[in-house]
Amino acid sequence: MCGIAGYIGFRRADEVIISALKRLEYRGYDSWGIAVKHGNEIRLIKRVGAIGDAKAYNVADGNLGVGHTRWATHGKPSEINAHPHTDCSGKIAVVHNGIISNFQSLREELENRGHEFKSETDTEVIAHLIEENYGGDLKEAVEKAVSRLRGSYALVTLHAERDELVAARYKSPLVLGVGDEEWIIASDVPAILDYTSRVVYLEDGDLVVLRRNGFEIWSGGKKIERRAETIPWSIEDAEKGGYEHFMLKEIHETPRVIEDTLFEYLSEDIEIDVSFSAGISEVVFIACGTSYHASLIGKYLIEKLTGIPVRVEFASEFIYHQPPLHRALAIAITQSGETADTLEAMRIAKKLGARTLAIVNVLGSTATRIADHVLYTRAGPEISVAATKSFIAQLIVLYLIALKLSGMPGSDVNRLIDELRIMPELVRKILGREDEIRQTAERLATFENMMYIGRGIGVPIAMEGALKMKEISYIHAEAYPAGELKHGPFALLGKKTPVIASLIPDETYEIMLNNIKEVKARESIVVAVAEEDDREVEKYVDHVIRVPKTEHIFTAVTHSIALQLLAYYTARKRGCEIDKPRNLAKSVTVE
Ligand code: G6P
Repeated sequence: MCGIAGYIGFRRADEVIISALKRLEYRGYDSWGIAVKHGNEIRLIKRVGAIGDAKAYNVADGNLGVGHTRWATHGKPSEINAHPHTDCSGKIAVVHNGIISNFQSLREELENRGHEFKSETDTEVIAHLIEENYGGDLKEAVEKAVSRLRGSYALVTLHAERDELVAARYKSPLVLGVGDEEWIIASDVPAILDYTSRVVYLEDGDLVVLRRNGFEIWSGGKKIERRAETIPWSIEDAEKGGYEHFMLKEIHETPRVIEDTLFEYLSEDIEIDVSFSAGISEVVFIACGTSYHASLIGKYLIEKLTGIPVRVEFASEFIYHQPPLHRALAIAITQSGETADTLEAMRIAKKLGARTLAIVNVLGSTATRIADHVLYTRAGPEISVAATKSFIAQLIVLYLIALKLSGMPGSDVNRLIDELRIMPELVRKILGREDEIRQTAERLATFENMMYIGRGIGVPIAMEGALKMKEISYIHAEAYPAGELKHGPFALLGKKTPVIASLIPDETYEIMLNNIKEVKARESIVVAVAEEDDREVEKYVDHVIRVPKTEHIFTAVTHSIALQLLAYYTARKRGCEIDKPRNLAKSVTVE
């Protein structure tokens, strides 16, 4: 996710902005840039890669400027696509976070009126819109420009001839740091804390004008007051947004991630070009770790909704196994796009004649260069080693692919899409019950073994739940299809091995209840994840984690969030180093 910093005050703006951007580095970025007002001109630098040594840059001796770290969305990482973006006159500079959904039509409109574009970004239209509306009043020009935008934005602009910054926010965060005769506006609190701990959180629809003698906030055409708050956190706490760990912060970002990923691929219709599926007879997923579990859910969805046969291979096995492929579409799922086994498996799949599609979170990563087709998840940078929000974003893309390829009647597809659209709300509901999940987790924290069970789509849900538990709490957690327990794992059950059961509201529900009764007969503690109005299950189990009612295929989202929180709070109770578990890495770049 991109970072924004704007400064007006008495210090050198380039130094303040570079140091502020460096405070946002933990969020990840692929390129960056700064614009500083120097006399009646704008001095600009843009670079690909890391900022590195702040002292190495001497942009201009001015104390008003804007800067940006970019995590590419529209257009590859490059100097041209890096922010700030300028208008035709080169007098206006804009930095922006968010996605302008109507940028294509705005761009065509502006080009027809003679505007020349340099980059592939959605942001550049904002600079040109401000230029068209500028008649000496920057605030008015920004106000008019943003009224044309659809989507989300946090933006900061400057005009070479004006001693002010103008910022606007809609559905993308922006905070104003209030110092002594200096103001710093940024997308995130850590960028501000070196200069002041007094901040004003801006709200959707706010327009801010920053001048040397103070600031004004406007909303709905009226000047308004917003209270400044004093941030009690250290910079490190601030990077975690006040959460104790990145993992918890990232789980809490999930509703937003679902919204962004849906926004990318869903308007009236599912906007995924599925030409990659033309003429295929089978799908082979290749992936590792959590992405492998997303693939297992993908298999369930694609087979159920489309009838196309699907196999799922561990990337590390695929490399040596090299199975026969028949008019196959190989789908590689990888958050980082850099997992060595997945990359090698993709190369081999290509050699074996498969068409390749990569579902990736990191733009411009190696997987995107190997694949014939790419679909991005919009999870933003994920810092915690344990994948959480990126897994849910992968599921969202898989739902959309399966629905788009399904031969179901339009009315059924629309009903499921409507259900998907309310998923962020359902996830917020689960997050609202976090405290109950924490209490259950704290009861589990003393055990050394656990068994996760499910049926149907509940099997990969259980596998991912168990993976989360073992990687961050170091409790040995296994996952099994509930029907397989009697073929071996029953021998492990008893008072010392709690069982976590995912109850899916489909044809597997009744038989799962029977399996739970069998487990209870072995005296294991049972924690069930079940729908909020399920009054049956509570008769047989020790704890119920309630999740909102949804279509059975979407329980992969609701149950997984509940199981991520269960693992998190168990690990927290055990005092584990949650964000960086022992012996594990976020991105495994060796085979
Ligand atoms: C590592 C990470 C896991 C991740 C796996 C695959 O093991 O710790 O969280 O699921 O790699 O990573 P990828 O980036 O390919 O999804």
